[in-house]
Amino acid sequence: MRNFDQFSITQAVLERVANAPDDRIRQISEALIRHLHDFIREVRPTQAEWEAGIGFLTDTGHMCTGTRQEFILLSDTLGVSMLVDAINHDHQTAVTESTVLGPFYVEGPPEAPCGTDISGDLAGEPMFASGTVATADGTPLANAIVDVWHSDEDGYYDVQHEGADLVARARFRTDENGRFHFWSIRPAAYPIPHDGPVGKMLEAQGRHPWRPAHVHFMIEAPGHEKLVTHVFVSGDPYLDSDAVFGVKDSLIRDFTAHPAGAAPDGRVMDRPWCQLTYDFRLNPISAATSRAA
Ligand code: BEZ
Ligand code: FE
Repeated sequence: MRNFDQFSITQAVLERVANAPDDRIRQISEALIRHLHDFIREVRPTQAEWEAGIGFLTDTGHMCTGTRQEFILLSDTLGVSMLVDAINHDHQTAVTESTVLGPFYVEGPPEAPCGTDISGDLAGEPMFASGTVATADGTPLANAIVDVWHSDEDGYYDVQHEGADLVARARFRTDENGRFHFWSIRPAAYPIPHDGPVGKMLEAQGRHPWRPAHVHFMIEAPGHEKLVTHVFVSGDPYLDSDAVFGVKDSLIRDFTAHPAGAAPDGRVMDRPWCQLTYDFRLNPISAATSRAA
C-alpha cells in the first residue's frame, strides 16, 4: 500500500492495527486514529502549527517531575479528568459524588487520631471538620480510612513549599459509628500551577487558572469503591468557573462561622472559627460490579 491521500491514509493506518493481539488495544488504537485524523482534517494545521503542537507536548513532558505532573494538569484543564470521572461514576444509588484527585495528594499520609489539629503552625481561621462515612443505605462504616488534604490560607499546599513539613493533611479512621472529626484551618481558593505550558495554554485560551476553596477527601472502606472527592466552600466566587470543572452542587457546604466559645468537641476557642460537616456515602462494590456486567 502506498500513494495515500488525505482520506485514504486513515484506512491504511487502521488496517495496520487490525491484528493487534489485544482486543481492547485494537479498539483504543482504532478510535485514536479515526479521531486524530478527523481532528487534523478539521483543523488543517500549517506545518508551523503542527511543529508548535509537538513543541507544546514536548514542553509538557519536560515540565513533569516527581512533584509536578503537567500532563494531569492538561487533562484536568481540558475537562478530560472529569469526563473520565463521569463515565466511571455514573451511580444509580444515592452515594457521594466524586471529583478530581488533583496533583497534591501524598501517598501514605501521616495517621492521626480523630480530634487532631492538623494545621501545624499555619496561620488562618480555625476549622472544625466532622462527619460520617456510611454505605449507600446509610449503615455506618466503622474503621473507614479518611484521607484529608487542603490548601493554607494563601492557597498553597504543603508540597508546594520546597523542604516544608507535611501539614494540613492526615489520615483518620472512623469510629464504631462511622464518625470522624479533626481541626485545621479554613482553605482558600488558589490558582492551579500555571507557570508551565498548561498556564500558557490557559492564557492563550483567555481562561483563568483558579479553583474554588475546598477540602480534599479520599475515603476507603472494605467492600466499597474508593471515593475521591472534595467539599467546596459555599459562596466561593470560582464555583462556576473552576479551572478543572470539578464542582458539583452536592459537594458544596457552608463553612459555618462561629464566634469564640465552646466547639462541639469541648475545645474552647479564643477566636472565631468555622465548621464543616459532611456525611459521606460510599458505593458498595457489588452494585458497581453488577451494573458493569
Ligand atoms: C487540586 O484540587 O488540588 C487540583 C486539582 C486539579 C489541578 C490542580 C489542583
Ligand atoms: Fe485542591
